[in-house]
Amino acid sequence: MASEIRALILGDVVGSPGSRALFFGLKTLIKETRADLIIVNGENAASGFGMMPDDVHRLLTSGADVITSGNHIWQKKEILPVLDSEERLLRPANYPPGVPGHGFCILEKKRQRVAVMNLLGRSRMGFNGLCPFQTGKKILQQLQGKADVFILDFHAEDPMEKEALACYLDGQLSLIFGTHTHIQTADERILPGGTGYITDIGMVGPMDSVIGSDPQQSIRRSLSQLPLKMEVIDNEALICGLSVVIQDGKTVQIDRIRQFPES
Ligand SMILES: [Fe+2]
Repeated sequence: MASEIRALILGDVVGSPGSRALFFGLKTLIKETRADLIIVNGENAASGFGMMPDDVHRLLTSGADVITSGNHIWQKKEILPVLDSEERLLRPANYPPGVPGHGFCILEKKRQRVAVMNLLGRSRMGFNGLCPFQTGKKILQQLQGKADVFILDFHAEDPMEKEALACYLDGQLSLIFGTHTHIQTADERILPGGTGYITDIGMVGPMDSVIGSDPQQSIRRSLSQLPLKMEVIDNEALICGLSVVIQDGKTVQIDRIRQFPES
């Protein structure tokens, strides 16, 4: 019989509305999707920008196995020691050497070794770090024989960069999912080599908002062209993500999730 892992992937958690939705809704969602493995992108958990040590603790105790992140992970300095000490908290792997934290981890689920990786895009991101294509390839070579399932969170803005990386690593990854835009895309599919893919899984955050923030403030910002601070608006949060079935290291089923939490 094929070895199967059911993965539940959620993100990006935005502020307290997002954290609350997960706290109340995650257990039911895990039951509904019969998930063995839960990955959550948490980089916007602390009031929309970065994570505090408490946010990491809350997400892990809510049921997350691994927390991925992205460009906002550096916003709160309190997180720096946790990036080094907490194996299950990832930052993008393509930062230069010497930066705190790590970009992948391996955990065991249903007697399978699951590698979870995190990379950051360079197109329209204002990020000039290492190439995500070369870094991704290098990590996969490094992990050869050390894991059975390979999952990548590609935190990036540009759909072209996201699809290109997915095609480049098709057949070597079990699943690659995009995060960062907070808007879920409807292009989930299985690539020819068996890699599951979606351009963006969407956010766990307030529904009546502009990517999680107060719409009025976003309108003022657009009209005035001033760098006004975006603030998370507190209303009911939607849970967005993916439910994926992986058999023998390949995706065989991929379904989008977009629902209000049921406690
Ligand atoms: Fe981001």
